[in-house]
Amino acid sequence: MSPTLLQQADALHPALSDPKNVQSTYTDPLSEVQALSGVDAAFDGSTPVIDMDGLLGPQRSEFIKQIGHACEKNGFFAVRNHGIPEMKISNMLDTARDFFHLPEEERLKFRSSDPDSLIRLVTGFQDKTRNIFVSRQSLKFHCHPVEDFKSHWPSTPPSFREKVGEYCASVRKVEVAILEAISESLGLERDYIDKLLKGHYVSINYYPACQESELDVTHGVRTHTDPTIITILMQDDVPGLQVINDDKWIDVNPIPDAVVVHVGDMLQALSNCRYKSLLHQAIVNCERERVSIASYCYPSDDSAIGPAKKLIDDDHPAIYKDFTYKEFHESMWRVKCSTAKRLDLFKAESD
Ligand code: OGA
Ligand code: NI
Repeated sequence: MSPTLLQQADALHPALSDPKNVQSTYTDPLSEVQALSGVDAAFDGSTPVIDMDGLLGPQRSEFIKQIGHACEKNGFFAVRNHGIPEMKISNMLDTARDFFHLPEEERLKFRSSDPDSLIRLVTGFQDKTRNIFVSRQSLKFHCHPVEDFKSHWPSTPPSFREKVGEYCASVRKVEVAILEAISESLGLERDYIDKLLKGHYVSINYYPACQESELDVTHGVRTHTDPTIITILMQDDVPGLQVINDDKWIDVNPIPDAVVVHVGDMLQALSNCRYKSLLHQAIVNCERERVSIASYCYPSDDSAIGPAKKLIDDDHPAIYKDFTYKEFHESMWRVKCSTAKRLDLFKAESD
């Protein structure tokens, strides 16, 4: 699975990580999104913060309300006390840096243009038609259950499999707890979303400190939504993530020891648009490299992803028809459109 069409494009693109060696013929399908966002310069916004300890205590229902409110109003929130040990987080970030500091030929072994590949490296690329260099490099792989996929992961650096495996298993527990809370916040059974759940796919994102490019504009990753139920993003201490809230770009600066949860496309569909998929992007930093770990939580191929029946009534007609995740995933790779529009292909017929 790929998190964005952008990554589809750069995977298929004959790009090399050295921007000077890259050619581009690719047209950005996301231009519409950028027009839509025509907003002021970024400002430092406040991030809703949820304390996950609260979900386990007597005030669970209050915390569920907070999560529902954040999903509905902001499309994202930070989670504290998530239970992923600090050591596993720092090991994961160190391993990610070590991998991206390896010689290029070592990393390029994982390059693949097959979206179904169990692991693939995506490199930075130039989009000359838009005068943009997209600098993110990422290593994307399946990881649930860890033991089924570990053997496909890099064996260099030598601790990769162990450290990444530990992080993935921990973050999975957080995903399940958050999805239960989100189901309840929608008035659905606690395991409504868990039942749809299948995999867990991780993208280790590496943003080099500004690279030289002959193009004027360098992005980390351009504006997109994630094709997930939710995404759990863990960032190092270098700022870069921005989201659109109320038609403005907001910096989501790293909060020590917290992870950020985004609403993805699948949650938008199953909540009948009550929770909207978050438009976000990452900018680059000219002084420091940046690493983030995105955990994409997605449904099994045959899960039915229409709006939950309980959320449909005369006042809230179904906005989407029923479809399977497989259908969505195939169309995401086939149809070239902005990520914010890809769910439109699954809208219910209006009379
Ligand atoms: C992603 C993503 C943002 C970041 O991996 O889908 O949007 O800050 N990452 O790295
Ligand atoms: Ni994303």
